[in-house]
Amino acid sequence: MLLNGKTCIIAGSAAPQGIGRATARLFAEHGAQLVLADRSSSEQLANDFIKDVKADGGITPSIIAVACDITKPDQCAHLVACAEAEFGTFDVLVNSAGVVETRSLLDTEAADLDLMIDVNLKGAFNLCQAALRHFAPRNSGVIVNLASLAAQRGGGLVGGAHYASAKGGVISLTRSIAREFGPLGIRANVICPAMAQTGMLNGISDDELNAIRGSIPLRRLAMPREVAGACLFLASELSSFVTGATLDVNGGLHIH
Ligand SMILES: NC(=O)c1ccc[n+]([C@@H]2O[C@H](COP(=O)([O-])OP(=O)(O)OC[C@H]3O[C@@H](n4cnc5c(N)ncnc54)[C@H](O)[C@@H]3O)[C@@H](O)[C@H]2O)c1
Repeated sequence: MLLNGKTCIIAGSAAPQGIGRATARLFAEHGAQLVLADRSSSEQLANDFIKDVKADGGITPSIIAVACDITKPDQCAHLVACAEAEFGTFDVLVNSAGVVETRSLLDTEAADLDLMIDVNLKGAFNLCQAALRHFAPRNSGVIVNLASLAAQRGGGLVGGAHYASAKGGVISLTRSIAREFGPLGIRANVICPAMAQTGMLNGISDDELNAIRGSIPLRRLAMPREVAGACLFLASELSSFVTGATLDVNGGLHIH
């Protein structure tokens, strides 16, 4: 039980095969109280999650769900207020909400760029700011952001330059938080996954996936739970002296 009694907000937890959902499942197994958040209705999110847990014979954790579009700062503040109202406090933010688009730079319209920046970068900023307003007066708290291998290698797999740029911003944002809030005992780290089997890979053909698989040293794609494992490490006391770090979860696809 690595998160016993810890209240964890997990943004981007609606997609049934997503990294956020897998993280919520793993955190529940480790005793966390969950605040699930996504754009979808809170009732549907909570019901879907509980149905999932019951189908696997798991024990239903303490959980609330909150509808939150992370592009809206007021909704992020509301999310944190809901966590405080239900559980008295909150300890961990995992931001797994995101959108991806495969598009060449010259075909990228202003609206495409806005979407990638608004959700992936500004959304992360909004969520982190709301969390830090809670964490700073308490001198404690942990943030785990999800960036991407695309930010490190210059796109080229699933996301275009606009996605890679936004995710690069998430790495810089996380490092800035680690530096500014480290003296308060607040930690912030970022994970760069690659090729995890979620809805994000839906647009890729089998041939393309096979080609990519062949170039990964571990010769397979990641299961969402394997990314969740990295989230658990960074959220828990196992990583108590780790902050400002970028953790690669890519099967060796990018070794640097
Ligand atoms: N799957 C991969 O291979 C991979 C690789 C690199 C990075 N990532 C990153 O990991 C994170 C999780 O990815 P995933 O594969 O689980 O994706 P996913 O599409 O399965 O899940 C993303 C979730 O984010 C939610 N979301 C989107 N916009 C939102 C908004 N404005 N407000 C609130 N929620 C919103 C979606 O509804 C969805 O539930 C993302 O940030 C993604 O960019 C994933």
